[in-house]
Amino acid sequence: MKIFWVLLMAGWAGSASADERDQAIRIHNRLTCEPPTAEVLEQMTDLIKKGDPGAAGNLAVQNRGFLECTVKQWCLVQTNADRSFDVKLNDYCATVIGAVRDEKAFGDLLSSDIIYVADPNKYSGTDLPPYDPANNRQYEFIESRGLNLADLLIEKKQSEVSGIAQTSGLLTSRAFAEAYLSAGTNRRAVRYSMVNYLCNDLEQMSDTSRPDAMVARDVERAPGGDASTYNNRCKGCHAGQDFFRGAWAFYDYDVTAMKIKYTPGVVAEKYNINGDSFPSGHITVDDKWSNNWTVGQNARFGWPEDIKSGNGVASFGQMIAKTAGFNACIAKRTYKSVCASEGETESEKKIISELASDFKSSNQNLKTLFVKTALRCSIAE
Ligand code: HEC
Repeated sequence: MKIFWVLLMAGWAGSASADERDQAIRIHNRLTCEPPTAEVLEQMTDLIKKGDPGAAGNLAVQNRGFLECTVKQWCLVQTNADRSFDVKLNDYCATVIGAVRDEKAFGDLLSSDIIYVADPNKYSGTDLPPYDPANNRQYEFIESRGLNLADLLIEKKQSEVSGIAQTSGLLTSRAFAEAYLSAGTNRRAVRYSMVNYLCNDLEQMSDTSRPDAMVARDVERAPGGDASTYNNRCKGCHAGQDFFRGAWAFYDYDVTAMKIKYTPGVVAEKYNINGDSFPSGHITVDDKWSNNWTVGQNARFGWPEDIKSGNGVASFGQMIAKTAGFNACIAKRTYKSVCASEGETESEKKIISELASDFKSSNQNLKTLFVKTALRCSIAE
């Protein structure tokens, strides 16, 4: 690495120019899903030759493909249990895209009263569907018309456009609610928060050594008449997720109205169903949550000292965003998607951990993370 820069700074161009051209192409492809135009390629190559590959990366992200392909695909997988990016644009990802454009702290999207919608003033026609919390039409329209997201998106207070008094950014978005709060018992919301923001599924987080005071009544303590099944399996996940899920206690997804349902002070019915399975289990009476995984094998995530419990989704989102494992996960997810690699070799792990600390110290600036990541896997070290 060092020698490379020294040579570059000394104006060692010559035969290396083909390399820099290749690097420019790689950076551009990785950040935008498409090759640069001849003009951009020339500018990027020059910048790399001058020893400023960061500027070359910043030039690439001006291309629409950055937000509309790279960031969009990175995001869409988070919004469905199948982890597919072949799904329609939605409010969750429009919000991520707008926030990347505006260089907002990514972690704040898990707790703030924010959403990005289309600004009708920026659209020349009259047929733009208005934002509607009961459907996804506006975003599908934008996507099917190929409208420019960077021009069109505008930041709004989610509470104002959705009519929900207590919002928490992505975690109360319509797409999130439809995928993770519909039916079930809101445990899916916890599971996919772990998958999306800590890059671990519950299987990997399972810890049977933790106390189970908040495990609900619907979870049998002796499935099939065998208490050891509960103690050795069920408890491993439920002693973590059942403590967290109180965060969404006042939320549900109404499948008929096709929108999120918020009932302040009233716990959604699904929380206390099937009480017969274990009548002395925990009954949810409010939206308190607590982190039962700060001790035990999950202490490795580096949870924040100052948020170990709370009420409602916003404090839960704040906790996640302040967890060291969140920075590590976002860096890893970005590396995997930008560099098209699993990122499992020792040298890649080192790069990812450096990217994670850069991400943290950049105030969780996702745009910067994407650029830095593309440079790391496009320029040989
Ligand atoms: C690997 C983690 C994990 C383990 C182990 C586990 N669960 Fe769960 N459990 C979940 C998740 C996640 C959900 C939410 C599923 C959903 O809604 O998508 C859930 C949901 C439930 C529900 C709610 C019913 C429903 O379908 O929503 C019950 C009851 C339950 N589990 C009981 C058990 C019992 C009993 C065991 C042991 C035999 C067990 N679980 C083991 C993760 C786990």
